[in-house]
Amino acid sequence: MADRYLSFTGTAPGRFLTRRLGLPQPAALERRALSGGLLHLTAGKTDLDLAPVLARTGLGADDTGRPAAVVLDATGVRDVDALAEVHAALHPVVRSVATSGRVVVLGTRPDPADHHQAAVQQALEGFTRSLGKEIGRGRTVNLVRLTDAARADAAESTLRFLLSPASAYVSGQVVEVGDADRIAVPDDWELPLAGRTALVTGAARGIGAAVAETLAGQGAQVVVLDVPQAEDEARRAAERLGGTALALDITAADAGERIAAAVPGGLDVLIHNAGITRDRRLANMPADRWSSVLDVNLASVLRTTDALLAAGAVNRGGRIVATASIAGLAGNAGQTNYGASKAGIVGLVRSLAPRAVAEHGVTVNAVAPGFIETRMTAAVPLFIREAGRRMNSLAQGGLPVDVAETTAWLAHPASGAVNGQVVRVCGQSLLGA
Ligand SMILES: NC(=O)c1ccc[n+]([C@@H]2O[C@H](COP(=O)([O-])OP(=O)(O)OC[C@H]3O[C@@H](n4cnc5c(N)ncnc54)[C@H](O)[C@@H]3O)[C@@H](O)[C@H]2O)c1
Repeated sequence: MADRYLSFTGTAPGRFLTRRLGLPQPAALERRALSGGLLHLTAGKTDLDLAPVLARTGLGADDTGRPAAVVLDATGVRDVDALAEVHAALHPVVRSVATSGRVVVLGTRPDPADHHQAAVQQALEGFTRSLGKEIGRGRTVNLVRLTDAARADAAESTLRFLLSPASAYVSGQVVEVGDADRIAVPDDWELPLAGRTALVTGAARGIGAAVAETLAGQGAQVVVLDVPQAEDEARRAAERLGGTALALDITAADAGERIAAAVPGGLDVLIHNAGITRDRRLANMPADRWSSVLDVNLASVLRTTDALLAAGAVNRGGRIVATASIAGLAGNAGQTNYGASKAGIVGLVRSLAPRAVAEHGVTVNAVAPGFIETRMTAAVPLFIREAGRRMNSLAQGGLPVDVAETTAWLAHPASGAVNGQVVRVCGQSLLGA
């Protein structure tokens, strides 16, 4: 369903009218190429050797005064005086950041043994989220926390993503980047998944189809899994992508074993995307609506993940990405079943991530989409759909490709230092913000 309001505000009369009426003014997001260079700023005394990593992003140094990307290294901010340098660095440039530009603040993990450092590093989170809400014009602001501040290369895939058009709908997020020893630098950053096998559940259509397409575009051999009723659609999608289809209901008790049998060389990337809604307020919700949603969205993810890890069917260096939702973070009326299942994904990811990496060399993360333009959201009544689209910092819905690109970053061989994270792809939705 086309976003007519977004098209209208892209015209001169639309801009005039919506400004006069004080209505949201979404900017059409740039998803192909950022135009402009990079501005590298620092606050506090930093030891981080960021310049080589930034040079490899392909964004040249800004010499126009209208940077497409601004990176503020605030890893050395340890007290309130140094925090003032954050203001001093960004205050003069924020207005000049190009439309659809990127601001990334780099910090460190708040130190439990130093409440001054912890206070100001936590302050960066409030700062980042607030700037994301006011910056406008399709520009995004995110915070990357390094836990191993000496190794900027641990954050390379994350910086490349956040400083590119691929992160168009990711704003107001805090991403922690850990141990640099776990990253694998690809031979070719354009085809980082070459030689890797990726399976995407629920990939016959919607977000899953976009994820499969993006992973295939980055070189992966994809397995398009969907229910037997969607087999034709899954087969067509797989043929287009040079992959294979697997007709399987993910709730089958032996789904894990059947997936393992379908990928004899093991999986490098496992994307749990399949999901359903069966909305009803709790007082009106029969047990079967509860159990079907919990079974597809959570129990099957737990079961198949356990089975595949136990069978050694996820290769070392592998990546698991599960799909949560902002409904699992903020809650949503009529979605106690769905909200529970998606919050369950967050719990699963946070608990399993450290063990999966230690025992299997596999990272586990989640994406949490907000309002994404799909068949699922096209079916939402008009008024609620309009509210969903506008109630975020970018004042529009995201596209399946936005979730797909975020998933591809988490699936990247060089993203091994990103583990246990839940990244919202929601344009900084006001829900659960
Ligand atoms: N669209 C949004 O705005 C939005 C927002 C937040 C989260 N999500 C989540 O993103 C994921 C994809 O959403 P979508 O909008 O593309 O949904 P969709 O309904 O368009 O596609 C879901 C796919 O999953 C498949 N599927 C359902 N049950 C399955 C099962 N038991 N076994 C195998 N496949 C199964 C379906 O056949 C379908 O192809 C879901 O987990 C959803 O909860 C979507």
